[in-house]
Amino acid sequence: MERIRHTQAWSSLEALANTVKRQHMRDWFATDTKRASKYTTKACGIALDYSKNLITDEVLTALFKLAEERQVSKKINAMFDGEIINTTEQRAVLHTALRNFSGKPVMVDGEDVMPGVLATLDKMKAFTHSIQSGEHKGCTGKAIKKAVCIGIGGSFLGPKIVTEALKPYQNKALDVRFVANVDGCHIQDVLAECNFEETLFVMSSKSFSTQETLQNTLTAKAWFLEQGASEADIAKHFVAVSSNVKAATEFGMAAENVFPMADWVGGRYSLWSAIGLPICLAIGYDNFRQVLQGAFEMDEHVRTAPAETNLPLILALLGVWYRNFMGAQSHVLLPYYHYLRGFPAYVQQLDMESNGKSTTLNGMTVDYGTGPIIWGSEGTNGQHSFHQLIHQSNLVIPADFMLPIKVSNQDDTHHAMLASNCFGQTQALMQGKTFEECFQDLAGQGLSDEEHTKLAAHKTMPGNKPSNTLLFDQVDPKTLGALVALYEHKVLIQGAIWDVNSFDQWGVELGKVLGNDVLDVIQGNKSDENLDASTAALIKQFNHAG
Ligand code: F6P
Repeated sequence: MERIRHTQAWSSLEALANTVKRQHMRDWFATDTKRASKYTTKACGIALDYSKNLITDEVLTALFKLAEERQVSKKINAMFDGEIINTTEQRAVLHTALRNFSGKPVMVDGEDVMPGVLATLDKMKAFTHSIQSGEHKGCTGKAIKKAVCIGIGGSFLGPKIVTEALKPYQNKALDVRFVANVDGCHIQDVLAECNFEETLFVMSSKSFSTQETLQNTLTAKAWFLEQGASEADIAKHFVAVSSNVKAATEFGMAAENVFPMADWVGGRYSLWSAIGLPICLAIGYDNFRQVLQGAFEMDEHVRTAPAETNLPLILALLGVWYRNFMGAQSHVLLPYYHYLRGFPAYVQQLDMESNGKSTTLNGMTVDYGTGPIIWGSEGTNGQHSFHQLIHQSNLVIPADFMLPIKVSNQDDTHHAMLASNCFGQTQALMQGKTFEECFQDLAGQGLSDEEHTKLAAHKTMPGNKPSNTLLFDQVDPKTLGALVALYEHKVLIQGAIWDVNSFDQWGVELGKVLGNDVLDVIQGNKSDENLDASTAALIKQFNHAG
């Protein structure tokens, strides 16, 4: 593939960036009354207003051209068609098959994967029903009232945020908890609130080799037995989700209690697979199907919508514009909805584990920026904290504001205030406040000329800070599914443009290997002679203190 810097669109964008940097959005809004409607589009229950961005029609045209030159459509289709696009692991990438309601087959290596997908969904449905109805009895004949879901990374974040975001849909009779970290405080705190007779443990690990998940499950199992249960009772209280069914059964999981997933489902793309079992347990199978349906509709949208109305494409290209041409290194996500508070952490893994790479598919080192730092938290909390930096520092930090229009069980006054804060922030970021305006405000306050000028400078808000606003009709299961798929496709498109493999994660491996060596040294199974002086000294201090 042609080097990105050699494409025509890249050069045009570089030239346009120089022009745009000298302009102000405030003036664009003042002179173009149609700007907001021109740069607003809607699909799958999500309206995107991207008018408060540092873009002109010329910039958008050049960005669309870049997408064409980088063959984005072809690469999107290659994923949907089951091509081996995860080339470093020789795998297809087919989370879209898990929500394929088209009735059409999806072929991998000449085999249709859909019968397997549907069989797993049926198994999840039956199991969810048996738990929710109380039909499934624990070892002493009691119904299950709590599910403790153990997993980390993609085997945790997706189920956690979806369950949290759909709180109004949760089944009150079943309390679903998550444990990820190997930090023993967490599992101990959760177990302290469990009654072993009424608790189900769902262990989720695609590889079935992740240290944190294995250890937390062993701890849960030991606790379960200590409470008075027997080995034979384990089958009634422990289930697993994994693509490594053999390892799961060797670990002691009853074969019929293992929910399979395929190796073509990447961890951070897996909430649609059996990894979504905790979601089913929390909100019911029918609602889980709606999550899948929403994602399916976004899948259709990304493949068929024209560039000008294609939500994932627009979000992806805006990200490329800021990252590669306007100097941005990070991107902030600001959900103005308490139940979506986990979404920034979810997108952190999705985006940073996918596009935090600096090698092209051909093994060349990139000479341009790739995945940005993703960060953020729920509004309005950030307004009383890090928004200061977004407003007045000299960093370029594009923001995605998110807000549901309708909310259930919500007081109108609170929601109006939440919305006004959200919109007010985007407005302040865009228009800012000039030195002259600030100077004017301070007139008549008895300040000396020097103080007057100095204070006005401190109060000046540069504005011209970019943001998208995503308005949801409501955060129902379907819209949430569409939202998650929207960000998945954004990441896919950006990876396609940057020519990186968005589906491997080699960067996390070395730390795991070294961590295991360190554990051996801490536990006295290995000497520290091969360790660097700093690590050896840290271990000595740790062991000494212990
Ligand atoms: O360490 C990174 C990672 O492999 C993620 O990609 C993955 O989601 C997570 O660990 C958990 O992996 P597993 O589901 O195999 O336990």
